[in-house]
Amino acid sequence: MIKYVSRIFINNLLDKTDILYLIKNKIKLKKKGKNFFGICPFHLEKNPSFVVNSEKQLYHCFGCGVHGNIIDFVMYYENLSFLESITSLSNTFGIPIIDNKSNSLKKISEKNNIYYKIIFNLSIFYKNSLFNISGKKAYKYLLNRGFNLYIIKYFSIGFSPLYWTNKILNNTKTIKILHEKLDILKINKKNNNFYDIFYNRVIFPIKNIKGFIVGFGGRVLRNQNPKYLNSSENYIFHKSNELYGLYETKKENNIIKKILIVEGYIDVITLFQFNIKYAVAVLGTSITHNHIKKLFNITNKIIYCYDGDKSGIEAQWKSLKISLPYLVNNKEIKFMILPNKEDPDSLIRKEGKIFFEKRINNSLSFSKFFFKQLFLKNLFSSCEEKTHFIYKALSYIKLIPDYFFKINLIQKLGEKIGIINFINIYDPMKYKKKTIINNNFKKTTIRILLSLLLQYPKLMKFVPKLKFFKSSNIDGLCFFIKFVNFYKDKNMTTVKILEQYRGTKLKKILEILVTWNHMIPDNKIEKFFLNLIKKLKINILENRIEYLISLDRKEGLNYKKKQELWSLNKILIQKK
Ligand code: UTP
Ligand code: MN
Repeated sequence: MIKYVSRIFINNLLDKTDILYLIKNKIKLKKKGKNFFGICPFHLEKNPSFVVNSEKQLYHCFGCGVHGNIIDFVMYYENLSFLESITSLSNTFGIPIIDNKSNSLKKISEKNNIYYKIIFNLSIFYKNSLFNISGKKAYKYLLNRGFNLYIIKYFSIGFSPLYWTNKILNNTKTIKILHEKLDILKINKKNNNFYDIFYNRVIFPIKNIKGFIVGFGGRVLRNQNPKYLNSSENYIFHKSNELYGLYETKKENNIIKKILIVEGYIDVITLFQFNIKYAVAVLGTSITHNHIKKLFNITNKIIYCYDGDKSGIEAQWKSLKISLPYLVNNKEIKFMILPNKEDPDSLIRKEGKIFFEKRINNSLSFSKFFFKQLFLKNLFSSCEEKTHFIYKALSYIKLIPDYFFKINLIQKLGEKIGIINFINIYDPMKYKKKTIINNNFKKTTIRILLSLLLQYPKLMKFVPKLKFFKSSNIDGLCFFIKFVNFYKDKNMTTVKILEQYRGTKLKKILEILVTWNHMIPDNKIEKFFLNLIKKLKINILENRIEYLISLDRKEGLNYKKKQELWSLNKILIQKK
């Protein structure tokens, strides 16, 4: 997986790919005027309200409001992360991922290969140690916990013996990387020797989705603290990205109907030993957006199966909240509540596979768990509290993209709080449109100018150098000037400009501006634009004059400011 692409590469990709070609192969599109219309793939509808604009290289749905460029389309349609969709697009369109700016990608991957190799060699050492004298206790520990030899080997479990570093390591480069880059070796300040942070621990190698070992988890043999140590974040290991057992789950199943997310390494291994080969574990952190995207990429059903204690339920609630934006049609999350003090490892050993599978099948649906927790967390007795509760509940439901799921949940909420026909009062679509208007989205001169610049970046060259006064209180003027200065002479296109705002607060506003239908005939746009620029210049002058006049009233003007006021007035008369 690539870890980084430069802006230059993204712009190049946007130049060389074609959104119409890509979407045409997936959705039936019909030409109407300049645009192509089809049934929106992101919500259920009968009449086409999904528009692809090949000139601007953007898509937009008037039904559900989705909007984006070719990268967004691949991300949401194929359920990929940003970098994954860049990779997918460069494959589809045959654009090699080479960073012409610094060639850094190639360098990074060469460096990473060295790290992979060193970690792999270390894992072999750990593995062998488990089966020789130094690992005798650890091996016995694993057998005592009920693991068989097959599963120990299958997960490449190992052991880090005491004081091995000086005896084994002689390559200084390897030592340097293990110490400086991978944080596995540390220096003992007393004798200046290296020691392994995992010493005297059972080792669980963590594989990435391709099967390369990227880090380790280590467990103590007796119950001491900390019970587990995990590799620290480094160049090839990112906890927020990896899931223990994901590689094995993929390897074992052609079609993955469901995936259990559990808390511990041990839980994954035990489940596999009991032939439940679709479990993954987060690595001592909470689940992330990346994790969920990754999982929904290969399965339609995620079942959160955390420990049966208070913190397990809390973690499930947290996971529910993070999962909301990914609940599109067909994708489902469920919740398995284990008996108190049990985890999947302890429970399946007590009950066996069949009972455990029954529990899987009986896991709570999203809506059951959602409402149960919601009402547990929010007690209300007064009207005020109840109102607050409704808004809270809606704030969660609102994040779900699937329109019908949203409607059903809102209806259920209405039933539960005793408001009949709640959905008639609160329609999420109506609400969505209202919020945009309610945002005070007035069509100011600056916004119209920005909208035109976004839609026709060629107009950029007509914007003269504008004077910016510190006293100015024209909304957006500072942004407008910076915007033009930045993109002028850069030969930009609509899609390239928008791409730069991915993940920023401005993105939503720019999307509204880029879809604003100005109704101006093509041959009049330039003139219209120039008139607006003239208007803006006058605005700026008037704004400054107003400021100077009010300053004069308050404290009087010095000679320089008086001169300024006089000359501004003169310019203004000429302009008008
Ligand atoms: P648990 O404490 O639930 O352990 O931690 P477990 O899976 O039941 O393991 P056993 O049965 O006691 O051996 C679950 C996960 O939380 C992380 C580890 O990733 C572990 O697998 N963890 C736990 C840590 O990172 N550090 C710790 O000190 C404890
Ligand atoms: Mn356990």
